[in-house]
Amino acid sequence: MLIRPARLRDAADLPAIEKSAAQLYGSAADLAWLADGPLIAQAEHESRILQQSVWVAEADNGILTGFISTEIFGTELHLWELSVHADWQRRGIATLLIDSAYRHAITQGLSALTLTTFSDLAWCAPAYAKRGFEQLPQPGPRLQDTLDAEALHGLPPERRIAMRLPVARVTAPR
Ligand SMILES: CC(C)(COP(=O)(O)OP(=O)(O)OC[C@H]1O[C@@H](n2cnc3c(N)ncnc32)[C@H](O)[C@@H]1OP(=O)(O)O)[C@@H](O)C(=O)NCCC(=O)NCCS
Repeated sequence: MLIRPARLRDAADLPAIEKSAAQLYGSAADLAWLADGPLIAQAEHESRILQQSVWVAEADNGILTGFISTEIFGTELHLWELSVHADWQRRGIATLLIDSAYRHAITQGLSALTLTTFSDLAWCAPAYAKRGFEQLPQPGPRLQDTLDAEALHGLPPERRIAMRLPVARVTAPR
C-alpha cells in the first residue's frame, strides 16, 4: 500500500471513499444516519490538496483505498477527516495515513496533531488513544468551536471529544 500526497485528479475519488467508509456507522447506536450523512465536496478536497494537506492510500492496482484530510492552525495540524473504504478497513491503512500526517507535522515544525471524534466508538477515540492521542478536558477556543459546529450539525455533543497528540521534537545532533 502506497501512501502519498494527494494529487488534484484524486479529488473526484474521495467522496466515494468517504461514503463507503461511513457505512461503519450503520450499526452504531443512534448514529446510523451518519452512513448517509453529508460528504466533503470535491471542491473542498481540491482546495486542501492544493494546500498539500491531503494524503491518499493507493493499492498496487492504482485504486485509492483511503485518505486523510488536514489543515494547519497555528502550530497544530488538525485532522478533519480520515476515511478508509469499507473493503479495505482493518489492514492498518488509517494508521499509515496518520503516520504521514505526523511526519508532515514534524517537517513543518508543528507542535501537535489535533482532532475531534466520538468518545465511545471503538474505531474512534480508543483507536486514537492507542496511537498516543489524549483527550483534551479543556479543548480551547478553536477545538471548542469545531465541537460546537458539529453539535449544530446534529452530532451528539455528549459523545464528542477533542484529542491531541504532541509531535516529538527532533533535535539536531551536536
Ligand atoms: C476509522 C477508520 C479510518 C479506520 O481505518 P482502518 O484502516 O480500518 O484502521 P486501522 O486498520 O489502521 O486500525 C487501527 C485501529 O483502529 C481500531 N479499529 C479500526 N476499525 C475498527 C472497527 N471496525 N472496530 C473496532 N476497532 C477498530 C482498532 O483498534 C485498530 O487496531 P487493530 O486493528 O490493531 O485492532 C475506518 O474505520 C473508517 O474509515 N471509518 C469511517 C470514518 C471514520 O469513522 N473516521 C474517523 C472519524 S474520527
